[in-house]
Amino acid sequence: MPELPIDIALTEGRVPDRTPEEVPELHEVGCPEELRKRIEELMSRYPDRKSASIPALWAVQRLYGWCTPEGIRQAAAVMRVTPAYLESVASFYDLLHTDPVGTHKVAVCTNISCWMRGGDELLDAFRAAAGDDEDLFVTGFECLGACDIAPMASIDERYFGPLEAAEAKTAIDQLREGADVLPEKALEKRPLPGGPDA
Ligand code: FES
Repeated sequence: MPELPIDIALTEGRVPDRTPEEVPELHEVGCPEELRKRIEELMSRYPDRKSASIPALWAVQRLYGWCTPEGIRQAAAVMRVTPAYLESVASFYDLLHTDPVGTHKVAVCTNISCWMRGGDELLDAFRAAAGDDEDLFVTGFECLGACDIAPMASIDERYFGPLEAAEAKTAIDQLREGADVLPEKALEKRPLPGGPDA
């Protein structure tokens, strides 16, 4: 019987060169009690525990400042998934950081509504004000869903707008001083439409 040709392209690179990663055991990873409880509570909200991956990674990021390898292993142990699975989720989403970032995170929206009202200039102003301070992470971002206050920015998970480029330096100075940031521009302080202060 003639020997069939082997298409090397179909086989090369498909053989794993290392043993598959295992789910870490909880007792191996030193998971803080508070983080374990939080992730278990998140998993209880979904029929499939993997659906809690993003909020679980968010909890890791809140605790450590970014999705550290140790934090990912801790979450993986609680969720009974491999760290590689959670790493693949974390690396997909811009708001989850798989490398160290500054303590303060500023995301300036440069999508259409904000761009038309000076979003690019606002981002430049924040970058200039932050300089090379490693404690400040400034990035442009797609629509943050608050187009009515364009141009806007998310600063440490709070929304601010409409912002003038000149206010970027004020906001950065306030972050450095630990002061309340642009209190008059905070979204949560705006009166609700139809509310008593509207
Ligand atoms: S375009 Fe900036 S929040 Fe929507």
